[in-house]
Amino acid sequence: MVAKEVNSIKGLGPGGKKPVTYYCLSEVAKRNSMKEIWLVIHRHVYHITCFLSKHPDGEKVLLEQAGADARESFEDVGHSSDTREMLKQYCIVDVHPSDLKPESGKKEPSKRDACQSCWSF
Ligand code: HEM
Repeated sequence: MVAKEVNSIKGLGPGGKKPVTYYCLSEVAKRNSMKEIWLVIHRHVYHITCFLSKHPDGEKVLLEQAGADARESFEDVGHSSDTREMLKQYCIVDVHPSDLKPESGKKEPSKRDACQSCWSF
């Protein structure tokens, strides 16, 4: 796991037992350059610096979303299920529940589980 403990927030994971670390969107927003690029898709934070040059549609589209919530553009493109599977390896942590906006048809943010347990999107 690549996550650094910089202004991160400790919380409790599924069942209220296992401690987990979340990042606020303000922390994610700082990682917005070629040097270090993070983005958010469906409440997970992805560290994709090493993937930039490998993206089939080029770096530019990823840099445009750097440090931000890329869910809409990620979904608009209709990425394949293989890509969604591949995405998991870049997940470093979850967005803090207090920073989450409800997505239609999903659970309340405050009840969401930790990173490892919610890959449904
Ligand atoms: C971490 C996030 C992302 C990953 C890991 C990723 C990965 C991939 C992969 C593996 C492909 C080829 C297979 C497929 O179509 O599913 C692809 C295609 C594509 N991606 Fe992404 N992508 C990401 C984010 C984005 C974002 C934010 C955009 C914004 C517009 C985007 C735009 C595209 C486009 C347009 C294609 C089609 C390229 C073509 O067919 O020539 N991707 N992406």
